[in-house]
This record gives sequence, C-alpha cells and structure tokens, in this order.
Amino acid sequence: MTSLTLFSPLAAGRLQLPNRIVMAPMTRSRADDDGLVGPLTAQYYAQRAGAGLMITEGLFPDPMGKGYVRTPGLADARHVQAWRGVTQAVHAAGGRIVAQLMHAGRISDPLLLPGGATPVAPSPVRPHGSTYTDSGSRPHVTPRALSTAEVRAVVEQFAAAARRAIAAGFDGVELHAGSGYLPMQFLSTGTNQRVDAYGGSATKRARFVVETLEAIAAAIGADRTGLKVTPGKPFNDIGDDDPVATYGTLLAALRPLRIAFLEMAPEPGSAFTHELAHRLFDGGGAYFAGVGFDQRRGAEFTASGCADAIVYGQPFIANPDLPQRFATGAPLAQADPATFYAGGARGYVDYPALMPARRHEAAVAA
Ligand SMILES: Cc1cc2nc3c(=O)[nH]c(=O)nc-3n(C[C@H](O)[C@H](O)[C@H](O)COP(=O)(O)O)c2cc1C
Repeated sequence: MTSLTLFSPLAAGRLQLPNRIVMAPMTRSRADDDGLVGPLTAQYYAQRAGAGLMITEGLFPDPMGKGYVRTPGLADARHVQAWRGVTQAVHAAGGRIVAQLMHAGRISDPLLLPGGATPVAPSPVRPHGSTYTDSGSRPHVTPRALSTAEVRAVVEQFAAAARRAIAAGFDGVELHAGSGYLPMQFLSTGTNQRVDAYGGSATKRARFVVETLEAIAAAIGADRTGLKVTPGKPFNDIGDDDPVATYGTLLAALRPLRIAFLEMAPEPGSAFTHELAHRLFDGGGAYFAGVGFDQRRGAEFTASGCADAIVYGQPFIANPDLPQRFATGAPLAQADPATFYAGGARGYVDYPALMPARRHEAAVAA
C-alpha cells in the first residue's frame, strides 16, 4: 500500500493533475451540423473543471471520421476557433482539458459523410446493427477498405488534428483506440483482414495505432499525448480472437514512446485486466483505470498502486463537482440516460453543484 489518495497530485508527462479523479471522454451530441460547439459546451466543461483532468468527447479529426449526428469536429480552422472558447472557459475555471480524437471508420453512414461517401475501414467487413441519423435509424453499410497509401494519409490526419488541438488551447490529445472505431478496427482480428503492413500478425494489426501515436507525439510531444483502449469490449460489433495477445503486443510496442497516459477501459470480465495492462505498460506513462469505479474502489486502486488515476464517466454527468462530493462525502446524483445525447441544456448544464465554486476549494483543502 502507498499513502496516495484520489486527492494526491499527479504528473502525467507534461500534464500536472491536482487530483487523480479524471473525467472520461463522453459524447454528448451538442454540436451543430458542422461539428461546431458553442457557449453551452464551454459552460458544461467549465462546470467540471475541478477534475484532475478532463478528456473531451470524441472529436472527428477529418470529416470522413464523423460517426454520429451533432458530434463535434477538430478538422478545420472553424473547429479550432469554436474549441478555443471551451478551453479558455476551462482554464479560467482552473481546469485542464485534453481533446479526444475519434475516427468512427466503418461505424459511420453515408448521410454523415462528405458527398454521401462510403465509410472507410481496414477491410470491407459490414457491422451488424444500425446508426441513428436525422432520417431515422439506418442499417450499417459495408465499408470501403483503405488503400495502404490512404492508411498513411489517415495517420497524418490525426497528427494534423493534434496540431489543431494545441492551436485551440487544449492541454493535450488522447487517441481513441476503443469502442469499435477505426483504430480498434485495425487492432481486432474480426475487422482486419488486410495482407499489407497493417494486417495479419498482432504486430501488424497494432501498427496503425503505433504509427498514429508516433505521428501525434512528433506533432505535439509524447508528454501530452494519451491513448484509450477498451480490450474485450464488443461495442459496435467488434471482436478479437485473442485480446491478451493483441493488447500485450500493442502496449509492448508503445512503452518506449513514453506517452503521458494510457486510459484503459476494459470490458468487465475481459482477460486483459487492469493488473495485466498496468504491468505490461510499466514505465510507458501514467496508467488511468476506468469503467464502473465508485469512490471506494477508486481510492483502493490508487492506494494500492494499481492505477495512477481513476477515470469516472457517468458520475461526472450528474455531478459536475464530483471531486468535491468525494472530498466531503456528499451524496451523488444519478444521471438521466434520456438526455445523454438529446441536445440542448437539459441534462447537460443543469445538474447543480452542491456549493459555489469558492467554497468547494475550501472543502477540498480542509
Ligand atoms: C454518454 C456517454 C458517452 C460516451 N462517449 C464516449 C466517447 O466519446 N469516447 C470514449 O472514449 N468513451 C465514451 N464513453 C465511455 C466512457 O468514456 C467510459 O469509458 C464509460 O462510461 C465507463 O465509465 P463509467 O462506468 O465511469 O461511466 C461514453 C460513455 C457515456 C456514458
């Protein structure tokens, strides 16, 4: 056991976290049809600035990466300008925020893509299920396989978006390589049938994620670059024959890059556990553990050295002052799933904090 608590500061690369309570990336679908966010989103994140670190909802790095209606982008100068309003509000409130870059790959729909384009993927494997659009729910389509040259171009799109994130005032970037989106489509045996340098063995399936992180790190510095993985998570009809081999290979390849942090959000019961991941990633960067944590288990994980920080998702939706509630033992509000993606202020910025901001600080310091 260590003497560390959820309230111990943490240095994760260049990021200085005043506590170890991290806000998970959560899509909230409050952008306009061009992927632009406004003052409501600035208010939402500023309300949660007491987190040690906030990770934004997934932002598409290129218009071909958009996967859902009203999700925000980081694909051009207008997006940079829009996000600047958010990062300024967060910093004014004393917070830290990194941008999550998310390319949906095969999970998108032609209605969401430029010119009605077909979604792209490592291989033409059609996902079961459907996607919600303004024209109703539509069954997923068979994606188009990226050529080898196009794969390299997508890697560069991520690096360009990372540069935009810094221009927008973000403190860093997280690559979303989970939840069945494009990077996980490369990692997983069920969706990657390629025979070039990006498919086949675990090393080759990991190459896209490794090269993308290397490109982001070269663009903005490894010490403010993070990665999210979700081993074993079947979301978006993704499957892998051997997650232990896949993610073991990935983490071994990434360790020398020394990124700021790894966010691990495994499917509960997955063979690729936090304990295994933390051991394999040792020395590679700070280790953030997520999925289903409450305060007690988060505190235990931190004290025992099982994780450097704990990532909380749903608890942050209904409790903008989550760290203060943990510090004071205040009860937690429950989030209403009906408003997760509903648009508008309701269920977004109207969950109250228990105390005005200045009294929070006094409570945490006490
Ligand atoms: C409404 C909602 C939206 C989410 N959107 C994203 C997302 O954009 N990117 C991502 O990596 N994870 C996303 N997640 C998953 C969370 O980051 C987190 O891994 C998950 O909620 C488990 O943590 P929890 O049990 O503390 O909620 C989302 C979760 C929720 C509830």
